[in-house]
Amino acid sequence: MSLGLGSRVLQVDDLQLRPLAAADAEALFALFSDPDVTEYMDIDPLTQVAEARDIIAWAQDLAAVDQGGRWGIWRPGAGLIGTCGFNSLELSRGRRGEVAYDLARAEWGKGIMSRLLPVILDLGFRELGLRRIEAMVTVGNQRSCKLLERHGFTREGELRDHGYWKGRFWDQIVYGRLSD
Ligand SMILES: CC(C)(COP(=O)(O)OP(=O)(O)OC[C@H]1O[C@@H](n2cnc3c(N)ncnc32)[C@H](O)[C@@H]1OP(=O)(O)O)[C@@H](O)C(=O)NCCC(=O)NCCS
Repeated sequence: MSLGLGSRVLQVDDLQLRPLAAADAEALFALFSDPDVTEYMDIDPLTQVAEARDIIAWAQDLAAVDQGGRWGIWRPGAGLIGTCGFNSLELSRGRRGEVAYDLARAEWGKGIMSRLLPVILDLGFRELGLRRIEAMVTVGNQRSCKLLERHGFTREGELRDHGYWKGRFWDQIVYGRLSD
């Protein structure tokens, strides 16, 4: 039975989380063309809307096979202010998910992701029955480390040259939190 993450809408106070959809391409392009936002992400700043369409298709494909889900974060009057969700879900040979998130630069420092992360964690642990939620953080992304540590994640180790993007290898920190 499908988890239905591809059609699940979440409301958190004034913020609406909607699964990324084809119509969001322009808004996602605006978000991910900002080099401040993508600095520690595994993508180059986008230069074409087609790249945003590819990301949306990737997210939709993941949700269709219950291997992830990515929501756009919408605020009335502001439009798309970020995204969050699961980059991966492993439900048969483990029960774990990898959480991921981003906000437009103007939205940092307001506690927005600190409001949303507990909702995503609750969905993962309670509804999806995950045992473990992990996050991969590029070394240097202090804001992301602080966010995870504030929400009960343990820094489990550092993977050397774990990723390759923007023309070079990157060390990544593994964070994990268990259901109990
Ligand atoms: C990672 C990211 C989402 C963190 O955003 P953030 O705004 O720092 O995170 P939070 O929502 O937890 O907000 C915490 C900040 O808001 C402040 N804040 C203000 N009001 C707050 C409130 N009511 N509750 C909590 N924090 C509040 C906190 O003091 C803190 O600021 P500080 O770190 O300067 O002290 C953001 O930096 C981002 O989008 N980066 C680019 C994409 C990215 O790297 N994603 C992660 C990949 S692993």
